[in-house]
Amino acid sequence: MERHKVDISSGHGDEKPVKLAEINYSEENRYKTKVSELDRVLGGGLMPASLILLGGDPGIGKSTLMLQIAKINPELRMLYVAGEESAAQIRQRADRIGIQKSEMKVLGITDLDKVIAHAKAEQPELLVIDSIQTVYRSQLGSLPGSIQQVRECAALLQQLAKREGVTTLMIGHVTKEGDIAGPRILEHMVDTVLHFEGDQSRLHRLLRSVKNRFGPAQEVGVFEMNEQGLSEVVNPSELFLSEMDQEVSGNVVTCVMEGSRPMLVEVQALVTPSSYGTPQRTSSGFDQRRLSLLIAVLEKRAGMQLSGQDVYLNIAGGMKVADTAVDLAVICALASSFKDKPVLQNTMVVGEVGLGGEIRSVPHVEQRLKEGAKMGFTKSLLPDKSRGAESGMEFIGVKYIHQAIRKAL
Ligand SMILES: Nc1ncnc2c1ncn2[C@@H]1O[C@H](COP(=O)(O)OP(=O)(O)OP(=O)(O)O)[C@@H](O)[C@H]1O
Ligand SMILES: [Mg+2]
Repeated sequence: MERHKVDISSGHGDEKPVKLAEINYSEENRYKTKVSELDRVLGGGLMPASLILLGGDPGIGKSTLMLQIAKINPELRMLYVAGEESAAQIRQRADRIGIQKSEMKVLGITDLDKVIAHAKAEQPELLVIDSIQTVYRSQLGSLPGSIQQVRECAALLQQLAKREGVTTLMIGHVTKEGDIAGPRILEHMVDTVLHFEGDQSRLHRLLRSVKNRFGPAQEVGVFEMNEQGLSEVVNPSELFLSEMDQEVSGNVVTCVMEGSRPMLVEVQALVTPSSYGTPQRTSSGFDQRRLSLLIAVLEKRAGMQLSGQDVYLNIAGGMKVADTAVDLAVICALASSFKDKPVLQNTMVVGEVGLGGEIRSVPHVEQRLKEGAKMGFTKSLLPDKSRGAESGMEFIGVKYIHQAIRKAL
């Protein structure tokens, strides 16, 4: 990897002012990790001299992902600071995922000043700090993982990256709410923030760029955890639709955009009469308040009485969706379960729903349709405004939810 001594992102360079045109920078200097899902999320590979923060729940596979990089790039001079585990544990995991030959070195200390001295001497191509919550500076009184320690240590690592050109990746813990633990300022200090997410009980993992100074944010990579470590999932739609049953009422397939990537997911609803006073409203993988809103729209605009019904909504496969293009599929799933009638076979449902019950258009319609067609869907229920979108599928355009329900069931 090329070294960049001139700071291009944060103005820490202590040289004279430099003319913009004289600052060296080239896209070609990116280091491709060859873990292609990771490279995509990074915006095309590791930017030299950048500082990256990787957050994620305990046990999700953060350390494994780092070793995966070492496995695919035996020549990469990686310096791995193991604060969470012993060197022997790292070796054991490396054996499990099948690293045979590697230039990677493991450093078992957490005193950050010593770590930095080693990094300066070794000049690794990639420095991994596992994790930022375990390293500390001895002159500070507070414990490792405290806000003060995390902030100070990250600042030192930022200087190391920018001044010495050491590309650095810090692993960070997340809080119960899913934020990266430690001060919010941590996210401002780094160039890229990646989140590794997924359900512990399931095999697939999503790597998401939350912030990226060198590429688009919200880009997503998909992995599957197995005995040999993480494998890349080239066709995620297949993964999320693998157990779909179209004959069951309440099941509807839609397409979400994850970054620049369309992914088919299955929305499942179960609507049953409540046996207690207050009806249940439970949602998994979909915003609970949005669900309440859509239920209210269904009641008011389609005359569907759900007040005496328990409503359960689930996005199959443990996916979490935030794309409003899922609204119409949620509406159709609820109506389908309520009436106990499956939706039209081989149909993909996409559209945003407004408070008036109107179906609003969504971006990237053609990409979504293409993905649906690729997965064998033959009909699409879409906002009427999207008429004309290329797809090769039968187009069913709808303007209002009552119309959509009539056509879908
Ligand atoms: N023999 C195995 N076969 C399959 N999967 C395994 C095996 N051993 C461990 N794993 C998986 O690897 C995961 C641990 O991954 P890893 O240690 O990389 O996570 P992490 O995000 O670094 O966790 P932490 O926050 O605790 O450091 C386990 O949750 C488990 O799912
Ligand atoms: Mg770990």
